[in-house]
Amino acid sequence: MTRFDEAATSSGNARYLAAKATVDDRALNRQVQAELCSLMPAGTPRLLEVGAGLGTMVARLLDLGAVVAGEYILLDADRQLLDGARRWLHDWAAAEGLRSDLLPDGLQVGDLRVRLVHAELGSYLENAHAAYADVLIANAVLDLVDVPTILPGLLRLLVPGGVYWFTINYDGESIFAPGHPYDDQIMQAYHRDMDERFRYGRPAGESRTGRRLFHHLRDAGVPPLAAGSSDWVVYPDLDGNYPADEAYFLLSILNTIRDALQEHQDWVEPAVLSEWLAVRGRQLAAGELIYIAHQLDFVGRSPG
Ligand SMILES: C[S@@+](CC[C@H](N)C(=O)[O-])C[C@H]1O[C@@H](n2cnc3c(N)ncnc32)[C@H](O)[C@@H]1O
Repeated sequence: MTRFDEAATSSGNARYLAAKATVDDRALNRQVQAELCSLMPAGTPRLLEVGAGLGTMVARLLDLGAVVAGEYILLDADRQLLDGARRWLHDWAAAEGLRSDLLPDGLQVGDLRVRLVHAELGSYLENAHAAYADVLIANAVLDLVDVPTILPGLLRLLVPGGVYWFTINYDGESIFAPGHPYDDQIMQAYHRDMDERFRYGRPAGESRTGRRLFHHLRDAGVPPLAAGSSDWVVYPDLDGNYPADEAYFLLSILNTIRDALQEHQDWVEPAVLSEWLAVRGRQLAAGELIYIAHQLDFVGRSPG
């Protein structure tokens, strides 16, 4: 298996999400995060994170001290990622010196019970669940679903006065540096793919999700209490080394663009795509590639 192919597999997905953690750590908007911490219910809240992947947000919130006890549900459509989440969080807790026990449906980390729920979000919401979440989290997920369809059902899971934290919502701008003459053509086609794609038999995402969330949240009666940018900014040091596993993160981004555009040869000629990928791959290997993606974070609460 080549490095290019590994990112397309489930283990590649898990490695991508682990590599993304340090990029997200830098990106998450601190003002929005501070507002979340001030709104976080005391005691033992019930948290629900949709499209939770490896569960890196659990570690982040425990690290911040924003969550210490309660129940944290990780919902995802990818069962292998959820299995990975159990192990990833168990290893993370061990490295932090926190007590953690594996359980059949998740794990216990200190005083926090983590439960894994394998479900596709749209189907989950169609099976009318009563409001049960004090805190609802979606990180790098709402740009993968049809927000106008999903948002009302999602917000119905929040108890009155419950808090939402919707972060890393892509907002129509990716920058690769140094610039390349094909950049605009490639990114226009990639955004078109985001706008038109279907997953799980449903429309799946939108390239300007970030800015549109202002209106979607207001129309749903839950305008944000704080919002701000959470751009991914990935760059090498002076020796051409990327932090942590961020070279793999960049490779996964290039592979995602490749996979999306290979299906649309009428939008971008194969020769143009392969030339662009070859140049970007060489820049990545040489430690010269810089990547910036514009994204937005939101926090707010449901009417009390
Ligand atoms: C970009 S990853 C983000 C994962 C995690 N939130 C993070 O930031 O590390 C998107 C996640 O959403 C999940 N996902 C995408 N569409 C979904 C859907 N319709 N229902 C449930 N999960 C979904 C994927 O399986 C994946 O784990």
